[in-house]
Order: sequence, then structure tokens, then C-alpha cells
Amino acid sequence: AAGLAGCGGDSGNDDGKITMGFAQVGAESGWRTANTKDIQEAAKAAGIELKFSDAQQKQENQIKAIRSYIAQKVDIIAFSPVVESGWDQVLKEAKDAEIPVILTDRAVDSQDTSLYETFIGSDFVLEGKKAGEWLVADAKAAPGPVNVIQLEGNTGSAPANDRKAGFAEAIKADPKIKIVASQDAEFTRAKGKEVMEALFKAHPEANVLYAHNDDMGLGAIEAIEAAGKKPGVDIKIITVDAVKDGMTALADGKINFIVECSPLLGNQLMDLAKQVLDGKEVPKRVLTEETTFTQEQAKAALPDRKY
Ligand code: AHR
Repeated sequence: AAGLAGCGGDSGNDDGKITMGFAQVGAESGWRTANTKDIQEAAKAAGIELKFSDAQQKQENQIKAIRSYIAQKVDIIAFSPVVESGWDQVLKEAKDAEIPVILTDRAVDSQDTSLYETFIGSDFVLEGKKAGEWLVADAKAAPGPVNVIQLEGNTGSAPANDRKAGFAEAIKADPKIKIVASQDAEFTRAKGKEVMEALFKAHPEANVLYAHNDDMGLGAIEAIEAAGKKPGVDIKIITVDAVKDGMTALADGKINFIVECSPLLGNQLMDLAKQVLDGKEVPKRVLTEETTFTQEQAKAALPDRKY
């Protein structure tokens, strides 16, 4: 254990080695797999011992994992909260045990921000806005109504809440654009296919799909093709993430626009953990830098895409 400078958080053997407990959301998407790999590699490179758990998208599993890290007296806990609400109790337990907590990727809605040191991740509202703004620009040339099916990430999660809100805000600029159906597809490819199949049957007038991540979009592409329609042409598709499979579909013309969400948070997380444990002041919010991709930009970026 490393001990927390100035905070009396010294836990047992002070061998100078930092132990981090990381409670991951799951393995629901290509994004998540890349994020896990990046965190594991960054911990190794930083000489931090990582205890890792996968919650299979269930909050109760994450809470269990965090409690077990507290019991094991790790030096620091990091986690990506599967949903926004319901964390106060377990965060208080960590605070009482003098174990600092860093949020990665997703936010919590706790009013008491002293329950965590910092939050590193994307601006999901901005991502939703970028998706909506692309559609508003694209719809200028559309002769008739623009009917959108939205595939949402898991209910109650920060990216689902915020990407929905940002998109809704942006499309207000054009009354021609309407969301005709919107449903949770859990950020997975299998659910994306299943939910798109049902929604497209119920709403054959849909001509745009907005999926909160690439994986749901890729699943939906299968459903659209099975219905005899051309993804990217009959139905325009906008997704978020920009993982390799998504970028390939974009370059192939099956997706029209992707808003990037970077899973590469590992190095920054390890740096922040060291600073916190050294008793240094860290910013409460660390934002990830991100871009967007058109089909042409995807073709150019694909050869160097790491994940
Ligand atoms: O929290 C980030 C989101 O979670 C990613 O956009 C999605 O692919 C993942 O499952």
C-alpha cells in the first residue's frame, strides 16, 4: 500500500506500491473492451497493481466490487458507474475508510461532490449535440419529413441520458426532424439488432437511425438489411464511439456520421491516481478530447486506428 499523504490514509504495509481497485461496467461494446485493455496496460506501465472486476452492466455487482476493494484496503478505487443514481452510500463507505475514489467515463448524480476526487471522461451532452447538428445540416437537402429512430444506451446511464438530451436540443433547430421511436438497446450489438427490427416494423416511415453507440448501430444495420433496405442510403445512420468496426462501416458507406468518444483514459487515470495519493490538488473534472468523422474522414483515419 502507498499511504495517502497528509490524509492519514496509511493502510497496512507501506511498500510504496499503489494498489487500485477498478470496477468496470462490463464488456458490452467494442468501446468497453478497448477501455479495459487501455486501463490494464496503463496500470502496468505506471507500476500500479490493478484489481479488476466486470459488473456485467449491473449496479449491484459494482457496489459489491467496491465494498470488496474497501475490505481489501486498496489505496485507491476507480470505477465507471453503470448508472448515475444510487452511489452515495457506498461512496460514503469508501470515504469513511479514507480510500479516495476517481470516477472514469461516466458520472454519478451525488450532490456531495466530496465523495470523489475527480471525474475523467467525455462530455456526453456535447456528443449528442454534435450528432444532432450533423443531422440538422444534412436535413437541409431533405425534401420531406425526417423521421428518427433512436437506440438508447442502458437506461439511467450518463451516456444514455446525456446523448439523448444533447441530440434533442440540437434537432429543435429543424421542425422537420422528429423522433418517431426511442428505446433502450443496452449498448450491445445483439439488442441493437433486436430492438431495431421491432421499431422499424412499427415505424416503416423512419429514414434516420441515431444509435448511442457503434455496436447498437452495427446490430441495427443487420436488421435494416434483413428488411431489404440499404443502411446509409435508405436509412441514414449516426452513431457515437468510432471504434474500428464502426469506422469500417462508416468508410463502407453503411453509417453516415460518427461522433468520437475516446476509451483511452488509462494513462490519465494512473497519473491522477498518483497525484491524489501524493496529496496534490487535482481538477474536479478532466475532459477527454474528441472529434467527429464523416465517411471520407473515416477512410483516412482507419489505417492508424488503434481500437
Ligand atoms: O460510457 C461510454 C459508453 O459505454 C460507450 O459509448 C458505449 O459504447 C459503452 O458501452
